Amino acid sequence: MTIHNLISKRKSIRAFSEQPIDDETLASLFEAARWAPSSANEQPWRFILAKKEDKEAFVKMQDCLLEGNKIWAKGAAALFITIAKKNFDFNNKANIYSWHDVGLATAMLSVQATELNLYLHQMGGFDHAKAKEVFAIPDDYEAVSIIAVGYEGDPELLPENLRAREVGERKRKPLSELVFSSQFGKENDLFKTTNN
Ligand SMILES: Cc1cc2nc3c(=O)[nH]c(=O)nc-3n(C[C@H](O)[C@H](O)[C@H](O)COP(=O)(O)O)c2cc1C
Repeated sequence: MTIHNLISKRKSIRAFSEQPIDDETLASLFEAARWAPSSANEQPWRFILAKKEDKEAFVKMQDCLLEGNKIWAKGAAALFITIAKKNFDFNNKANIYSWHDVGLATAMLSVQATELNLYLHQMGGFDHAKAKEVFAIPDDYEAVSIIAVGYEGDPELLPENLRAREVGERKRKPLSELVFSSQFGKENDLFKTTNN
């Protein structure tokens, strides 16, 4: 089955090149995120960006990552935290879609990045409490992910275990396990055979 190149090309890399991202290019990623749909158009996403040149902020963000992520994410041209506003602006009730919407904005950002030959690697593996404290995230917001972004580098320069993961096969569940018909779990004729 054919899907758009911007979707098939995207992948979460660990080997980043040392090439910096110019400001206009970097800004365009967040402009793409800004145009994501969101529940009640609340736009509950916020971002804290740390370019590698902003050494202090970059190192502080890197230090929030779990060791397994820190080792490769330090090679990225920039890191940023994605943040969700917990409550709706209009009635201050819980916005149960806030993380969903941050994910959507991130997906838009990721499409824009792919178009510009940039790659993201999203991480849930970080110390949320530390990020909240270090970056003064208010109580009505929560850190969702830290994302590494940059141009693709040489996997050969990664430590052996990471290199194997970098070049290994990317796997997905078959659509027959994901798309149902009439009730949960009921096979959909569209995906009877594992043709995906
Ligand atoms: C919310 C989220 C959290 C993730 N956390 C981590 C992480 O902490 N460390 C890591 O190496 N990859 C992390 N990933 C990347 C996934 O492992 C990756 O997206 C998945 O293996 C599919 O690979 P692909 O993005 O190359 O298609 C995360 C991805 C998402 C969306």
